[in-house]
Amino acid sequence: MIEIEDLQKIYHMGSVEVRALDGVTLDIAKGEFLGIMGPSGSGKTTLLHMLGLLDIPTSGRIVIDGTDISLLSDYDKTMFRLYKLGYVFQDYALVPDLTVMENVSLPAMLRKDRTEDQYHAASIDILTKIGLLDRQDHLPRELSGGQQQRVSLARAMVNKPDILFADEPCANLDTENSRVVLDLFREINEEMQQTVVMVSHEDWHKDYFHRIIHLQDGKVISDGTDGTRRT
Ligand SMILES: Nc1ncnc2c1ncn2[C@@H]1O[C@H](COP(=O)(O)OP(=O)(O)OP(=O)(O)O)[C@@H](O)[C@H]1O
Ligand SMILES: [Mg+2]
Repeated sequence: MIEIEDLQKIYHMGSVEVRALDGVTLDIAKGEFLGIMGPSGSGKTTLLHMLGLLDIPTSGRIVIDGTDISLLSDYDKTMFRLYKLGYVFQDYALVPDLTVMENVSLPAMLRKDRTEDQYHAASIDILTKIGLLDRQDHLPRELSGGQQQRVSLARAMVNKPDILFADEPCANLDTENSRVVLDLFREINEEMQQTVVMVSHEDWHKDYFHRIIHLQDGKVISDGTDGTRRT
C-alpha cells in the first residue's frame, strides 16, 4: 500500500542543518493500524506530513498504491489527497463558523463526482457511526474536545480514504475521551479495513496498534508487533 525508500528531510536553519528524517525505509500494508512513536523532535510529524503529501521530502521515494507521488503535479497531489487520504490533527482543525454537518461534508462537497444527495447521505452515515448525528447543527465550539475530535474523524472518513493519517489525535484529550476516540479508530480500522497511520506519545496507545515503529533522530530504531494488539 505504502512503500517508503530511504526518505530524507533536511531543514536548513541558517548554517544549521536539521535532519528531521534521516533515511527511513518502510512498507505499510493495506488494513494495517500502524503506530509511529518516539521522543519529541524525532521526526514523527515530519514523516506523517511526507506520507500525507503535505510536504515534500529532500530525497527518497514514496509510492502509494503504485503511484510514485513525486511524479504528481500540484493539482494531481491535491486530487490524490482529496480522494485517497484522510487527516486527523491534534487540534481538530475544524472550521469554526461551519456546523458539524458542514464541516463533515466539506471534503465530500469538494469532490466533483458526487451529487448533493450523495454527499449528504455519506455525511449522515459517518456522523451516525461516530454517534454525533444529533449534533449536526451545532458549531464546533459547542462541543467538547472529544466530540470535536470525533467530528474531525468523521470529516477525514467521509470520502472513505485509502489511508487515514492521525497526528497525536488524543494529545488534548483526557484518558476517557482518548479511549472513545481510539475505539472509533479501531472500529473503523476493523470494519472498513481502513489503513491507519497514527503518531502517538502515550505508551498505553500501543494496545491499539498492530505494529509500532519507533523513531529517534529521524531514523527507525525499532519496528515490530511485540506487546501490541493482535487480531
Ligand atoms: N519547518 C521546520 N523548519 C525547521 N525545522 C523543523 C521544521 N519542522 C520540524 N523541524 C525539526 O525537525 C525535527 C523533527 O520534528 P517533528 O515535528 O517531526 O518531530 P516530532 O517527532 O513530531 O516531535 P513532537 O513529538 O514534539 O511532535 C525537529 O528537530 C524539528 O525542530
Ligand atoms: Mg509532532
